[in-house]
Amino acid sequence: MPKLHVITYGCQMNEYDSERVAGLLGRARYELTESPEGADVILLNTCSIRERAEEKVFSQLGSLRRLKRANPDLVIGVMGCMAQLQQGRIQARAPFVDLVFGSPAIARVGDLVARARAERRPLLDTGEGPLVGIAPRPDERRRLKAFVTVMEGCEKHCTFCVVPTTRGRERSHAPGAVLAGIAELAGRGCREVTLLGQTVNAYGRDLTPPTDLAALLERVNEIDGLERVRFTTSNPYNLTSRLIGAIRELPKVVEYLHLPLQSGSDRILARMNRGYTRARYLDLIAQLREAVPEIALSTDLIVGFPGETEEDFEATVSVVERVGYDNVFAFRYSRRPGTPAAAMPEQVPDEIKAGRNRRLLEVAGRVAAAKSRDLVGRVLAVLVEGASRKSPLEATGRTRCNRVVNFDPEGQDLFGEVVPVLITQALPHSLRGALAGREAALQAAAAQRA
Ligand code: SAH
Ligand code: F3S
Repeated sequence: MPKLHVITYGCQMNEYDSERVAGLLGRARYELTESPEGADVILLNTCSIRERAEEKVFSQLGSLRRLKRANPDLVIGVMGCMAQLQQGRIQARAPFVDLVFGSPAIARVGDLVARARAERRPLLDTGEGPLVGIAPRPDERRRLKAFVTVMEGCEKHCTFCVVPTTRGRERSHAPGAVLAGIAELAGRGCREVTLLGQTVNAYGRDLTPPTDLAALLERVNEIDGLERVRFTTSNPYNLTSRLIGAIRELPKVVEYLHLPLQSGSDRILARMNRGYTRARYLDLIAQLREAVPEIALSTDLIVGFPGETEEDFEATVSVVERVGYDNVFAFRYSRRPGTPAAAMPEQVPDEIKAGRNRRLLEVAGRVAAAKSRDLVGRVLAVLVEGASRKSPLEATGRTRCNRVVNFDPEGQDLFGEVVPVLITQALPHSLRGALAGREAALQAAAAQRA
């Protein structure tokens, strides 16, 4: 059997795309291998969101070149966002690459790889193709958590972002296909799914008849065996009260929301073309907290967007303090080819971006630490994922609010179970706890529902 090695960069959607590719090639009898040496086909699934992500891929390609020299039959392919955006540069900087295709062309991967192996000339496919559903890996182990892309592409026009160029138009997968895929995963032991889309809360408006994420969640909530449902990324612009209602009402939908703010300054939000103001965002947070008091929140922020002043930056910091995020992903603005912001005047110097990034992370760290301390003394439901990486006698798992908890499993194999854990200590990146009795668990669950 020919061997396939896949290297994945970037977001969860890329991880999922890599699985789909492995699944599709599995049907063509490719076997996944963990190491690039000995592979017949190596695919790099790439990210273009920031310049640094692209540089990593070029340096990886540099080292793969040796393998290609040693084995001229090896097929090296670049797929994903960079393939779509940087095809010319890939051909110029890495002419030994045999195959370049974007994520919209994934459906054709079997054919593309076969042709690249047969024809021995570089192939390029950045066109669109039919949507591909979940294609489970051929060597599926029992797995607890899975990503499921429910929506491809993005049609928003945030002025800093390449995703609309790299991932194409907004296309939702039909609810029936999504539900069947998740039911199949659940049947094989999957307990948690994360529904993915660049603006996942715009799900369904392109379908006939149109539907929405709240309706989809209602049906996912009914799937037997499934314990938890997450979804990401939500855009504040599309956050409806129906969706907030679904988070409140549906027991499997967790009390956690990732809601990118990008900037706390109205001036910058307008330049970013995000479609909401600081006040509107804060109002959404108030509605969420009112409906789901326990909700944990995380966000994405960009520092050093063109024209960002010290005052604009302070406005962002103040939202972080006010909202009290569990987790903040801070990015230095990176100029992306072809985007409106790349051509804007008043680009912010790197040292200023670095300084603001550092200050922002400091505040975010302080805020998150306070959130963690609030959890000490509570009993939380933990989905056990296995042994802790640091000490194999410890079990590790996650809470519904997505915190890592390590605890002593008291000799039991709890893999895949949801157990009550009393939180005893808050560490910088995780919580420590102790197994709590059934009684405590029932009380905690009742309190969480109330
Ligand atoms: N669909 C998501 C964003 C996907 S990109 C949304 O609606 O927000 C993930 C994150 O990368 C973004 O939230 C943004 O914070 C960051 N990002 C995107 N383009 C960027 C750029 N040019 N420079 C720095 N960060 C960027
Ligand atoms: Fe990018 Fe904005 Fe879409 S951040 S992915 S253009 S919602």
